[in-house]
Amino acid sequence: MESPASDAGGAGWPVPHDEAMRRAVALASRGLGTTSPNPVVGCVLLDSAGGLVGEGFHAYAGGPHAEIVALAQAGERARGGTALVTLEPCNHTGRTGPCTDALIRAGVARVVYAVPDPSPVGGGGAAQLRAAGIDVTAGVGADEAEAGNIAWLTAVRRGSPYVIWKYAATLDGRSAAADGTSMWITSEAARMDVHALRVTVDAVIAGVGTVLADDPRLTARNLRDGSLAIRQPLRVVVDSSGRTPAEARVRDGAADTWVATAAEVGAGPDGRVDLPALLAALFRRGVRAALLEGGPTLAGAFLAAGLVDKVVGYVAPKVLGAGPAALVDAGIGTIAEAVELEFTDVRQVGPDLRFTAVPRVKED
Ligand SMILES: NC(=O)c1ccc[n+]([C@@H]2O[C@H](COP(=O)([O-])OP(=O)(O)OC[C@H]3O[C@@H](n4cnc5c(N)ncnc54)[C@H](OP(=O)(O)O)[C@@H]3O)[C@@H](O)[C@H]2O)c1
Repeated sequence: MESPASDAGGAGWPVPHDEAMRRAVALASRGLGTTSPNPVVGCVLLDSAGGLVGEGFHAYAGGPHAEIVALAQAGERARGGTALVTLEPCNHTGRTGPCTDALIRAGVARVVYAVPDPSPVGGGGAAQLRAAGIDVTAGVGADEAEAGNIAWLTAVRRGSPYVIWKYAATLDGRSAAADGTSMWITSEAARMDVHALRVTVDAVIAGVGTVLADDPRLTARNLRDGSLAIRQPLRVVVDSSGRTPAEARVRDGAADTWVATAAEVGAGPDGRVDLPALLAALFRRGVRAALLEGGPTLAGAFLAAGLVDKVVGYVAPKVLGAGPAALVDAGIGTIAEAVELEFTDVRQVGPDLRFTAVPRVKED
């Protein structure tokens, strides 16, 4: 769609629903990284003739929902019109009122949404709208809307955050040199890309081994001038017995930090921090998307437990020939046990390659 709602004025410009939903999905993505623990949502409003009269997205938790922004823009022109929303309109009074009520009050005739709301409190919106006589259609643009909101949807459906494992390695799969030095395997461009990724998640997770070896800050910042991003993910150090030094940079106060010990979270059979319990605790703290940044031991434990939803790997055109692998023991002994993934994106970042992969869905 070329024309923004403010110019459109509605009349004489019917917009196909699939096109309007694509626009709603694009709008939703503008909220990525700032809406948690809420989803990203986009909304497009068409008047009774099918012309674009309003659009909006949910920008931050506690702020107006996408439908409310679009309805405010459309005003009276929403009456008899169609609302296209990437997620089933909520039926819940939280920090803001239910969107279903606002849509009913505005007199829209039709609501088209892409994906049902899986949350126990937010769901039920479609039934409420139908009961008020509104024509409701589900599933338009569902694949695109699902992909755009995958972290939140996955996390809410299972009550555990969506985990992205990020690592940097050489072409021969080394995460550090034989002497333990690892700064820097990848280029500044790749590291800046990682900081952009940190801004989109609610928590960054590292093992105490990485904290002791590298003393990372784990903040999201501009590498050129060191300035911090406005919103910082929670820094989580997985540290069974509390070995994180008091003077470690992760404790510098630049962002919230949780040193998660086995005593606090619970211990697994090996006496180390119980990882599913850790993720459940993070979910209760409002974490929906988490970036697992290392190192190889903790990443191996997450993979062995089937707790990784996406892999983002940065591979530098360097070889070391010795040094630790990007992943230590994921409990895999034979090729038949390999964790199978499929690439969803491959691109060059500076001199390095970045690939994104997700676990392959097994066919029955
Ligand atoms: N290239 C990269 O992308 C990258 C990223 C990060 C780090 N690194 C490198 O990795 C090296 C550090 O490796 P590392 O493997 O020692 O660090 P790590 O994976 O960050 O930390 C491992 C530690 O996490 C703790 N842990 C707590 N619960 C655990 C659980 N359930 N399963 C597994 N571990 C658990 C264990 O110590 P406790 O039992 O005492 O808690 C374990 O020794 C450094 O050289 C660093 O430079 C590379």
